[in-house]
Amino acid sequence: MIKSIFFKSLILLCLIAGISSCAEKKEQLILPETDLAKEALIPIPLKIIPTNSAFALDQFTAIYTSPRSEGLNRVGAFLSEKINSKTGLRLPVNTIEGTTVDRIIYINQVDSSELEEKESYQLYIKKDSIILNAKTAEGAFRGVQTLRQLIPEKSNDTLNKRVIWPIPTGKIIDQPNFVYRGAMLDVARHFFSVEDVKKYIDLLAYYKINALHLHLTDDQGWRIEIKSWPRLTEVGGSTEVGGEAGGFYTQEDYKEIVAYAGKHHMMIIPEVDMPGHTNAASVAYPFLNGNGKTPKLYEGTHVGFSTFDTRKDTVYAFIDDVVREITAMTPSPYFHIGGDESHVTKKKDFIYFIDRVEKIVQKHGKQMIGWDEAAKANLDSSSIAQFWNSKENATTAVEKGMKVILSPAKKAYLDMQYDPLSKHGLHWAAYIPVDTAYVWTPETYSGIPKENILGVEAPLWSETISNISELEYLAFPRAIGYSELSWSTEENRNWDDFKERLAKQAPFLERMNVNYYPSKLIDWKKSEHSIETIQKD
Ligand code: ACM
Repeated sequence: MIKSIFFKSLILLCLIAGISSCAEKKEQLILPETDLAKEALIPIPLKIIPTNSAFALDQFTAIYTSPRSEGLNRVGAFLSEKINSKTGLRLPVNTIEGTTVDRIIYINQVDSSELEEKESYQLYIKKDSIILNAKTAEGAFRGVQTLRQLIPEKSNDTLNKRVIWPIPTGKIIDQPNFVYRGAMLDVARHFFSVEDVKKYIDLLAYYKINALHLHLTDDQGWRIEIKSWPRLTEVGGSTEVGGEAGGFYTQEDYKEIVAYAGKHHMMIIPEVDMPGHTNAASVAYPFLNGNGKTPKLYEGTHVGFSTFDTRKDTVYAFIDDVVREITAMTPSPYFHIGGDESHVTKKKDFIYFIDRVEKIVQKHGKQMIGWDEAAKANLDSSSIAQFWNSKENATTAVEKGMKVILSPAKKAYLDMQYDPLSKHGLHWAAYIPVDTAYVWTPETYSGIPKENILGVEAPLWSETISNISELEYLAFPRAIGYSELSWSTEENRNWDDFKERLAKQAPFLERMNVNYYPSKLIDWKKSEHSIETIQKD
């Protein structure tokens, strides 16, 4: 213990005095010229100040985090794990015993007033040290994503006898433009496994997305186990679009997803869509049904034919159980109640329903989110509208003092085809090529004042996709653009610059085995290995 305190103090001293004087003398490294401002960082940080030298990441680098912060310790371990998978290096975290340390990455908890948001961070990269300052583990985690992006895919083994990964020196000051940066996955039309969802989380977190909204229920399937109503998944989970096998998350599965997202400082937002889009629930429990027909399992893609019976107290007792069981497993402050396309619910019944369900969500300690139609109800200003279709509904929400999440279908729907020839997806809202997805301004779109915008979310509906490879084809590269639209400031966003940085994401996407859409608008900078493979093919 004393020894470890001694080492910690030594490390801090080394940091202050410049570590090379403390470390055992080694041969001088030859470092390449660099330019931090030319790195392919996405989302682009608020400020980048290059100093044109390099930090040599190598086997003599150690990671150290502020003492007494378990959260920062976990962020340090995450960084070490990711450096290992990229470079093969095994960097020790908060232990230097038995290791020669030349350089250090120090993740530092600070309460500086310069760090405005909980996700703000500063990166100081010098020849001998990298210091990552953040107020919270969340801020440190965002900074770690920037650092990961600065580590070259290939080591530099020409300048020196030993292998190094040169990281450009300089300073980065960064914070998010919007606090909410989301993606949505529809696991109801087609089911996606826990492993698929985890891979999506891995990829989104690398680009600082902090919310994954799971559309858990729809006409074609109910995907989350509710212990007090078991037929929801036994019956309602048995189908999906196109007659494939369906499936559902057990509560243990769901908790595993929530925990995995939590490790990536990402919240899971569960959606139970109602009163429309409820055919699967009504097949399982017909008393819920309010459309006057006998509900049957449904594997098609039409919308708007189902509704709960909004005037039965037993329906609200059911909803109370569902919200209670799901919120008990969900640390995020939000619960999404859907509310879209309830075409067979009378307007007055719809309003009555949404008003009552908002109270249930609040009773269970959460803020309600609803698709923009929900704003027609008498909602509290703490509830949130997700603008996908109607500017009028979004304006109504703003008049009620509500915040709005921007997901305009014409710009932000990941399930829209890129162009008439691209595979998968639909085009009822628009074709959305990679530039269209990026070139719009959430800050001024539809005249919603910036203070009412919580953030941007890119939904991925799954009528036409049934596996992770198809999911990736629609989500990437467009999701990367939405990350910049929601994290980076309007002044810092620029399509010509973005497309150069996007082109350089190819080696990462390849290493992660992502089936991204190779849009011709981008001059993809593939890794040498994949170019060789393509040429051989
Ligand atoms: C929606 O696309 N129905 C929200």
